[in-house]
Amino acid sequence: MDARQMKIEAAAEALKHVEDGMRLGIGTGSTAEEFVRLLAEKVADGFSVRGVPTSERTARLCLELGVPLNSLDELPELDLTIDGADEVDSRLTLVKGGGGALLREKIVAAASHRMIVIADESKVVERLGAYPLPIEVNPFGLAATRLAIGKIAAKMGLKDDIVQRAQNGVPFRTDGGHFILDASFGLIPDAEALANALNTIPGVVEHGLFINLASLAIIAGPAGVRTLSDRDNQETDLR
Ligand code: A5P
Repeated sequence: MDARQMKIEAAAEALKHVEDGMRLGIGTGSTAEEFVRLLAEKVADGFSVRGVPTSERTARLCLELGVPLNSLDELPELDLTIDGADEVDSRLTLVKGGGGALLREKIVAAASHRMIVIADESKVVERLGAYPLPIEVNPFGLAATRLAIGKIAAKMGLKDDIVQRAQNGVPFRTDGGHFILDASFGLIPDAEALANALNTIPGVVEHGLFINLASLAIIAGPAGVRTLSDRDNQETDLR
């Protein structure tokens, strides 16, 4: 099974959790896009959902494929969010933001009763931190914010290797007009402590550590699909 097929398998499994009439948060990234494609087929068959997209990119795909959308202001409480991740550990703590949509993704996930993560096996890690942590920052005071993040890294014994994300030679801008700093801290021993520390920096708009938001991860590998649940670290083999 190739990487795309694994994403499709995870997305198909997640679709089984979507019920008719649900208010649905719709994630961003290549895995979430496979989910949108499968959801659109169901919608075309008469299935009814109201989706809230986590990025302009996802909104465009939904509109193109006929998935009905609402804003989060119209639907401030959602039944379920389905989204991808850059890293997932066994406690379902996530690193997200590789696609730059972490702020909206976190707002939408927090507004949902449940969040299900869909990913291929390559995203599952024992310890978070191999993937650089995306940190969304306000453009004002960028250098000061970067310095403050570096000081936190030093205090916590993490690597101070922070790079501003760029695209086609210009600073990457999020849908909210902010910048992203990708922080290669190295392995993160205490995600909660790091999250709390980053939240104290005024220029940090949001960071990509998602803690206690996901309740289920659907993981597709070459041999099939398995789930990781937040309840007692339970694992179920769906092969
Ligand atoms: C988007 O900002 C991210 O949080 C994505 O959910 C994450 O990068 C996963 O993307 P892929 O499914 O493309 O790997």
